[in-house]
Amino acid sequence: MLKIAPSILSADFAYLADEIKKIERAGADWVHIDVMDGLFVPNLTFGAPVVKKIRKVTPLFFDCHLMVESPEKYIADFKAAGADQIVVHAEATKHLHRCVQQIKGEGMRAGVALNPATPLSAVEEMLPYVDMVLLMTVNPGFGGQSFIESMVPKIKRLRRMLEDAGLDADIQVDGGINDKTAKLVREAGANVLVAGSYVYGAEDVQAAIASLKA
Ligand code: DX5
Ligand code: ZN
Repeated sequence: MLKIAPSILSADFAYLADEIKKIERAGADWVHIDVMDGLFVPNLTFGAPVVKKIRKVTPLFFDCHLMVESPEKYIADFKAAGADQIVVHAEATKHLHRCVQQIKGEGMRAGVALNPATPLSAVEEMLPYVDMVLLMTVNPGFGGQSFIESMVPKIKRLRRMLEDAGLDADIQVDGGINDKTAKLVREAGANVLVAGSYVYGAEDVQAAIASLKA
């Protein structure tokens, strides 16, 4: 099932409620929420208090991408704020299995993210436990970067690994997704597409979201 998850990282934060309503009306499936701590990635965004406020704005699924060190410290806070799914980076926690169990224990969907340079083997033992694997198609930290083409075969290999294991976890891609790269990643086996600057930079947001599915 193909899903489009616009990233509010590229929204105008002064009008965040309107910006979320805009993607809701335009056919977004999920809201992708990029949480950065200035340690795991060289940038800062926002945390659970902001998520709690925007929870009142929309019924859309909240996909929280934690680009933070030791994400296990924040899981309960994000649950309380209204997160539906938490995605943690394999590179950011010493105990990935425990962290995923903690997310599931809070009643949320759990995902694991891999940076472009991190091999699939980093998540291989976790595949039976996760609802989604996020393959970064840029280095995390900023919106508006260029898609790293060599991630396409990585997506294909992950889809094959999942199929061989009889698993149907979602494969999400994040970074540099536009109408052209969307086609490449969909054909490779990705089924959840994050897009920030492409969606929020569009004149016609509805057409932009539709073009990611076409
Ligand atoms: C990057 C974030 C992305 C970002 C994508 O660190 O994880 O979600 O918003 O932005 P675009 O789609 O502009 O590459
Ligand atoms: Zn993201």
